[in-house]
Amino acid sequence: MRLFTAVLFQAQLLDRIYGARQNLQDYALRGNFTNKENLHLTLVFLGEVGKTGLVIDAMDQVQAPPFSLQIGGLGRFRRQGGDIYWLGVRQTPGLLAAQSQLAQALRQRGFPVESRPYTPHLTLGREVEMKPEFDPKAFEKSLLPMEMQAEKISLMKSERVGGRLTYTELYARPLSR
Ligand code: 2AM
Repeated sequence: MRLFTAVLFQAQLLDRIYGARQNLQDYALRGNFTNKENLHLTLVFLGEVGKTGLVIDAMDQVQAPPFSLQIGGLGRFRRQGGDIYWLGVRQTPGLLAAQSQLAQALRQRGFPVESRPYTPHLTLGREVEMKPEFDPKAFEKSLLPMEMQAEKISLMKSERVGGRLTYTELYARPLSR
């Protein structure tokens, strides 16, 4: 199974993020844009894992309280064949505490968690080529406030179902004070 851990978005925030994604797509010549149900914030990417038990055990070790998730700003990773566009996520202490506790618990259980600093981002589209008139600053100004209280972290399975990229929540660990 291909697994990752993530924060999923509450309905109102998801609507706003999807609205931003739609606006971005309107300015694109082409691109592979994230489906609404697939929008998420990755905490730790795991890749191929045989069984979920140790991952769930690591998630259960996280003692972090609920935290404020704050999204804003447009970023781009330049790629040959089309860029990746993403929304930024503020590196708030609460988010970083939950992420680092989880990464540490996974490492202690032998998962090869990458050691480079965590750069939270939310991918809106891949292989994107924008129209020449696209103005990223104007786009950023058009973004509605996007914030929520994260109450849980989720274990996600990624697979192709009938050719469609599908993410399924396998387990959720509530964050508690
Ligand atoms: P991305 O949006 O930057 O591609 C499911 O694929 C999630 O895991 C996505 O959020 C994706 O991040 C992330 N992901 C996929 N492969 C990864 C890798 N090798 N290292 C880190 N994150 C990865």
